Amino acid sequence: MSEQSRLAGVIGWPVSQSLSPRLHGHWLEEYGIAGSYVALPVQRSEFSTALRSLQSEGYRGVSVTVPHKEAAFAIAHRVDAAAKAAGAVNQLIFHEDGAIEGLNTDAPGLAASLREAGVSLGGKPAILLGAGGAARAAVLALSELGAGEVRILNRDRHRAEVLVSNLSSWVDVDLVPMALTDWHKIAGDAALAINTTSAGMKDTPSLDIKLESLPKTAVVCDIVYNPLETGLLKRARALDLKTVDGLGMLMHQAVPAFKAFFGVEPKVTSALRRELEKALADG
Ligand code: ATR
Repeated sequence: MSEQSRLAGVIGWPVSQSLSPRLHGHWLEEYGIAGSYVALPVQRSEFSTALRSLQSEGYRGVSVTVPHKEAAFAIAHRVDAAAKAAGAVNQLIFHEDGAIEGLNTDAPGLAASLREAGVSLGGKPAILLGAGGAARAAVLALSELGAGEVRILNRDRHRAEVLVSNLSSWVDVDLVPMALTDWHKIAGDAALAINTTSAGMKDTPSLDIKLESLPKTAVVCDIVYNPLETGLLKRARALDLKTVDGLGMLMHQAVPAFKAFFGVEPKVTSALRRELEKALADG
């Protein structure tokens, strides 16, 4: 690989707040790789043109964030199974023959983060809050972690039904669509509750659900990492429930991407977490 070819970045709009350059930059330094990974602010209408220029500039690939994950899925010449199930791609790898490969590393990233936190579902029910794009990756992760049933609760129940009909052929686990208001009826035996809604982000109030209904042994996870301690996690901690924040998923989803871009499989370490926590605290 020539020095010049070791280029990658994160494409999105907006992208200035992305932690990915910091994350990949940490690994580039740790492994002594002469490469760079930059933020690529690109609007929706410019996505395919931008990809073509990046390919011709010798980029190895790009991580893909909002609002381009579905467009990235459509543009890839081949995609992995997780991307097919999710209908979305969060990493594009540019191959030397011009082919573009799409991966969805959000699902395995979330599974790895939960596993690292010691979560094992062993056939028990899990609750998934939300039915948007992020919920799709979470369904795959919960299935991989051995959930006995995934109860999908969404404000708009119809969207939960659509998600279930789209995803049930991709996973072995039973998916049950519900409304958010069903929470109190179904929380009592859940091993895990995971928030994939955007409620609680950027000063909006967190979901109005009573965490007291969960068993004392339940784990509460939020895939949001900014703020790192969301209102939901704060309430869970106050009840002495085990919590998993969104930083683990962010770090783990980047591992296969770094390997594809720069040729080394990087490690998720506490030093990396500390650096990202500091970046979040500094704003
Ligand atoms: P993403 O791709 O990040 O998942 P999305 O597709 O816009 O984003 O989905 C956002 C999710 O957050 C949805 O499940 C949405 O619920 P609705 O489908 O009912 O709109 C959920 N959400 C957003 N704000 C919410 C709020 N204040 N209360 C409950 N759910 C909320």
